[in-house]
Amino acid sequence: MSGATVINHPLVQHKLTIMRRKETSTASFRRLLREISTLLCYEVTRDLDLTYETIETPIQEMQAPVLEGKKLVFATILRAGNGLLEGMLDLVPAARVSHIGVYRDHDTLEPVEYYFKAPESLSERLVIVVDPMLATGNSSIAAVEKLKERGAKNIRFLCLLAAPEGIKNFTEAHPDVPVFTAAVDDHLNEKGYIVPGLGDAGDRMYGTK
Ligand code: URA
Repeated sequence: MSGATVINHPLVQHKLTIMRRKETSTASFRRLLREISTLLCYEVTRDLDLTYETIETPIQEMQAPVLEGKKLVFATILRAGNGLLEGMLDLVPAARVSHIGVYRDHDTLEPVEYYFKAPESLSERLVIVVDPMLATGNSSIAAVEKLKERGAKNIRFLCLLAAPEGIKNFTEAHPDVPVFTAAVDDHLNEKGYIVPGLGDAGDRMYGTK
């Protein structure tokens, strides 16, 4: 399936399979999500630019690589995005965080924002938007619209599972935003769930139903 980069690292795939199992407990699901998000973060940041600065080791001075530019922003789409956020912050603790509460109104199709908080200078930072499930794509499309309205220009979207319908909708709406996922599943069912999927990601990570 084109339109998304599938992160098919064996550890990612193995952990995802355990998360999909219906008998996996809330505690295990949450721990696995944190672990897998660290691995996904590693892949989504693999081509970041480096610059060189002069440092002194105990032996001598050297030119050593550091990340170039302003700190990254991880933008989490409430509430399920928070499950991906934790592991990403384990890997990039200095990242800034944006919280976005948004959904697309069924009737008007307009994005409705109920919460938005982001760091300054979005236009100068790489923004990685996180939400575990790219299903219809509606809320992800709306969240990226809101970030662009605030100036974000360099955006990537990271999820755990995607439906082909969601990838199509998202990439049509935001062709400039690359999508990264651990797997592309078969289809969406009539209730908007990804099939075979893993169920409701928010419910599974927080034990709600
Ligand atoms: N959101 C979920 O949590 N699961 C799905 O299958 C689709 C959307």
